[in-house]
Amino acid sequence: MNRDDTTRLHLKNAVKTLGNAGIPLARNEITQIISHFFSIPRYRAVTGDFRLSSPQWQQFQKAIQQRSSRIPLQYILGSCSFWKHEFTVTPDVLIPRPETEHLVETALNYLPKNGNEVVVDCCTGSGCVAISLAWERPNTRVIGCDISSAALKVAEENRTKIGVDNCSFLTSDMLQSLKAGSVDIITANPPYVSPADAPSLEAELSFEPAAALFSQKNGLNHIRTLLRQAPEILKKNGCLMFEFGYNQGEAVRKLAENDVSGRIRQFTIIKDLNGYERIGFLRYA
Ligand SMILES: C[S@@+](CC[C@H](N)C(=O)[O-])C[C@H]1O[C@@H](n2cnc3c(N)ncnc32)[C@H](O)[C@@H]1O
Repeated sequence: MNRDDTTRLHLKNAVKTLGNAGIPLARNEITQIISHFFSIPRYRAVTGDFRLSSPQWQQFQKAIQQRSSRIPLQYILGSCSFWKHEFTVTPDVLIPRPETEHLVETALNYLPKNGNEVVVDCCTGSGCVAISLAWERPNTRVIGCDISSAALKVAEENRTKIGVDNCSFLTSDMLQSLKAGSVDIITANPPYVSPADAPSLEAELSFEPAAALFSQKNGLNHIRTLLRQAPEILKKNGCLMFEFGYNQGEAVRKLAENDVSGRIRQFTIIKDLNGYERIGFLRYA
């Protein structure tokens, strides 16, 4: 068998293995694996116009086996693209989702280009939101908080790799470790999946940290805490913006209506491009 036949056979088997495992975009993922691990340009990876050594094929097989057991592709590659950068991801952090870029965009709309605001990104995980904001607004000071110190190690690695120095990380249970009246803007993508929904979730989610996904009380416990703590740590005119589940708009509206701080000056829900309510925006007096 010549080397081209070897490539063809490996690719054919990989498509079959991933197809049997129920992975819908098998060819696309195989291209990404080849291109990522062996620095083969995608146009060659996709057409099979490349050759690998035996140890490289073994590495490829290992990745295909991992993927066929439904380990998310981003954990296998160890990275995920978000906003304008490639972020390191490990099973200690949630894989950043494209929809969370909407939260970055929302915050950027309220952060003047050369302003020196203090921004807190609560539930920062890989640091994708905090680092993207710090990169876009170099004069701001961004603090990413998370309860998981393992996640914050990954966030710090991302900060160093991307090279922003106006961002730091703090271990904190929600906003508990922050000083009262010290923050201009809070962003958050908190856990918001109801534990009751766990059995119906796709297999890949079982590899992500449960603490990054699930929140008690129908997925709303963390959001409830955010709404309770935010008025305390925000400066006058400060803003809170946070992501929530596509079917939680009504519940979030009720939580905001029941606010006891008496400081909410503006409450808006922002829809995504598909028309789903996904971001809560509050401005406080
Ligand atoms: C949905 S993930 C968001 C990660 C990242 N911001 C993103 O958008 O990809 C939620 C994060 O909240 C963190 N978390 C869970 N409970 C928390 C708590 N009580 N206080 C602070 N962070 C918490 C998890 O460790 C996880 O990193």
